[in-house]
Amino acid sequence: MKVKIQVKILTVAIIALTALAVFHPASRAGQTEPSRSVWDGVYTEEQAKRGEAICIRECASCHGAALTGGEESPALAGPAFLANWEGLSVGDLFERIRISMPPNKQGRLSRQQIVDILSHMLNVNSFPTGKTELDTKTEMLRQIRIESSKPKSNSGSD
Ligand code: HEC
Repeated sequence: MKVKIQVKILTVAIIALTALAVFHPASRAGQTEPSRSVWDGVYTEEQAKRGEAICIRECASCHGAALTGGEESPALAGPAFLANWEGLSVGDLFERIRISMPPNKQGRLSRQQIVDILSHMLNVNSFPTGKTELDTKTEMLRQIRIESSKPKSNSGSD
C-alpha cells in the first residue's frame, strides 16, 4: 500500500517536472538570446577608432602601438593573447582592464573608454565590425564569448 502511494507521488512529480521543463520560458528557443561571440560584429568601426586614440595615450607605452607587447608587457593581440582568453567573455576582459589597467592608475578610465579600447583590441585581432557599439554594461559584455577561430556554423536559435 505504502509503496503504491510512493509510486503515485513519484509519477506526479515526474509529470510536473516535465511540464515545467517544457513550458519554462528559458527553455524555449528564441526567448533568451543565445550568447553571442566576437564573430558576430559586436562593435563599430567608429568605436574602434576612438579606442585606438585612447590606447595610444594609455596603453601603447607598455603594450606597443600595434598591441604586440613590450619587454615586460604581454601582447593584447595575436594567438598567445587569444589563447589566454579563449572561451572567456568580453565582460571578463573588461573587468580585467577595469580592475588592473593601466597599472597604478586603475579607475582612471570610464566604462565608455574601456569598451572603446576593447573595440580597438577586437579590431586589431581581426574580428568583424558591426552596426551597434559595444555596450558598457557588464551583463551584456558577459554574453559575448571570445573565440579565436570562427565557428563553423552559426545557424542561430534552432
Ligand atoms: C605601465 C605599463 C602598462 C600600461 C600603461 C598598461 N599595461 Fe596592461 N599590462 C602590463 C603588464 C606588465 C601586464 C602583465 C602583468 C599584469 O597582469 O599586471 C599587463 C597585462 C594586461 C592585460 C592582460 C593580458 C593577458 O593576456 O592576460 C590586459 C588585457 C591589459 N594589460 C590591458 C591594458 C590596457 C587596455 C591598457 C591601457 C588602458 C594597459 N594594459 C596599460 C603593463 C601595462
